[in-house]
Amino acid sequence: MATIIDGKALAAKIRLQAKERAERLRAQGVEPGLAVVLVGDDPASKTYVRAKHRDCEECGIVSFDYALPAETTEDELLGLIQRLNGDAAVAGILVQMPLPAHIDAERVIQAIDPEKDVDGFHPMNLGKLVRGLPGLRPCTPAGIMRMLEEYGIDPHGKRAVMVGRSSIVGKPMSLMLLAADATITIAHSSTAELASACRDADILVVATGQARMVRRDWVKPGAVVVDVGMDRDENGKLCGDVAYDEVEPLAEAITPVPGGVGPMTRAMLMENVMYAAERQVAARRA
Ligand code: GUN
Repeated sequence: MATIIDGKALAAKIRLQAKERAERLRAQGVEPGLAVVLVGDDPASKTYVRAKHRDCEECGIVSFDYALPAETTEDELLGLIQRLNGDAAVAGILVQMPLPAHIDAERVIQAIDPEKDVDGFHPMNLGKLVRGLPGLRPCTPAGIMRMLEEYGIDPHGKRAVMVGRSSIVGKPMSLMLLAADATITIAHSSTAELASACRDADILVVATGQARMVRRDWVKPGAVVVDVGMDRDENGKLCGDVAYDEVEPLAEAITPVPGGVGPMTRAMLMENVMYAAERQVAARRA
């Protein structure tokens, strides 16, 4: 029987801490604010954006909603970001991905002031992560590190396997595990003998977007398994990238879907907004 890593409960604790930090800033006359920019009307993105506004409300963070039509041009979006960069009421800027195909997401990410880049996607923040400097960290891997810490799972000296190499999860996750002294393998769709690579892992993090891809025989007994997936199985039921029912009995600890990584990602966004807001206040006073 594995320890079930309760991301939902830990996320609630992190939101409460963010709320306390927001109250401290407000007592100093500063309202922390997050601008959430959505281009187009992708239903999943709309759901995520609504959740972010709700989280802000709970934490006492002012949220500014920019719902732009799908036809918005890249120049119009870049213009909005310039304005938000210069707006002292906006501590954090989040542009919901994916953007419509006619907009270059890379240009948009690079237009965001790195001090307001609460997604941690800007090359400056990713560079700080590479160099081991403090900075805004991508929310999903930061949330996973926090879960490991909370459950007393120290990556030091462990073999960690990251399945997936995205800039949002796989690459930053690998760097964070490396910074915590794990020996890290990054596996992906072109990895030969993927199941066998996974079986080496003491800590296995899976972010492939393939429903129930990781099966029982992919996992070493006693491994810690972190499932970043948010998929649908063949019956349309929400599931992860890990076949939970097969893997849970042999894992030491495992994150459920839902209730694992997802709530932590959202909570770390609130923490990032407070980190950004506090830094901006300190910079203005310096
Ligand atoms: N779309 C899916 N995940 C994310 C995320 O973490 N941040 C943003 N901005 N968009 C996303």
